Amino acid sequence: MSTSEPLVLGIESSCDETGVGIVRGHTLLADALASSVDEHARFGGVVPEVASRAHLQALVPTLHRALDEAGVTLADIDAIAVTAGPGLAGALLVGVAGAKGLALATEKPIYGVNHLAAHVAVDTLEHGPLPAPAIALLVSGGHSSLLRVDDLTRGVTPLGATIDDAAGEAFDKVARLLGMPFPGGPPIDRAARDGDPLAITFPRGLTGPKDLVEHRFDFSFSGLKTAVARWVEARERAGEPVPVNDVAASFQHAVCDVLVRKAIDACRTQGIDTLVIGGGVAANSRLKAMAAERAAEYGITVRVPRPKLCTDNGAMVAALGSHLVAAGITPSKLDFAADSAMPLTLVGV
Ligand code: KG4
Ligand code: ZN
Repeated sequence: MSTSEPLVLGIESSCDETGVGIVRGHTLLADALASSVDEHARFGGVVPEVASRAHLQALVPTLHRALDEAGVTLADIDAIAVTAGPGLAGALLVGVAGAKGLALATEKPIYGVNHLAAHVAVDTLEHGPLPAPAIALLVSGGHSSLLRVDDLTRGVTPLGATIDDAAGEAFDKVARLLGMPFPGGPPIDRAARDGDPLAITFPRGLTGPKDLVEHRFDFSFSGLKTAVARWVEARERAGEPVPVNDVAASFQHAVCDVLVRKAIDACRTQGIDTLVIGGGVAANSRLKAMAAERAAEYGITVRVPRPKLCTDNGAMVAALGSHLVAAGITPSKLDFAADSAMPLTLVGV
């Protein structure tokens, strides 16, 4: 690690995690996190007002924890990055206002960045610089997209996205109907380990011959979620026990199969041999294994950050900020607004 590389602080508050990360170049120094997930669990989804209030309470203590962990002070920080969008408006506002306050007080440059691009950038903390071009599969609670990444600091090229539910949303909804807690990804991942992924054949959305013309790189998970619901209902109506582990494994297999198939197809049609997977669903153990196994057949290298870096965190924001600083990108103006619908093509504001 070179001390001449800029020290960047990143703040994340787009959903239910308050994250503060500190990086120097590609080196992660601190990744402090406070989650309000337990406060949302009984509602089966994130409650925006509850999330905003939790961010407000957690931001300063999380910042102090990150500074302690990294062994630095605010005066040492060279630049501040913060998630400007997309996400919950009120939740974003807390991080953006906090980051602006810090930038003003310390007279450091501030970068308002895109949460989704940050999910891609975080992988560099674990695996070093991302080869260009690369294909990125972004799978979170709110988004599922395939992107071509030529230069992360300049923008990404969307190739396709979900036309209905996001992959994480499908995990959350299926978990709910199986009686599992929110968020549903981790309990389904665990249950699936004891189930048979081939026990039930669930539909693979947008993979038919006709879909490959119009929706080659798009996803659809809403039909899959409905198919799982119907299957479980039929069992219950017949008075038969629901084999939860098999349902979880078969559902997970269907999601991963489609994600991996389309991601590899994107790599092959674009002649690209690096696939990076980011976002909360990238923490899924089966997705990572399946992608690595199938990609190897085509000489494609798969990069997936460790689970803690896949789900929302401050380190990912610091990582993207660090890229922007290194590329000499002009910082954001202090009056930038949080943008709950920030487009994927915009890396920063
Ligand atoms: O990226 P993220 O932390 O927040 C958003 O930006 O949305 O993603 C959260 C999503 C949730 O839907 C959660 O169920 C899913 O990621 N997730 C998983 C796993 N861990 C988290 N999905 C599948 N398998 C997992 N192990
Ligand atoms: Zn996210």
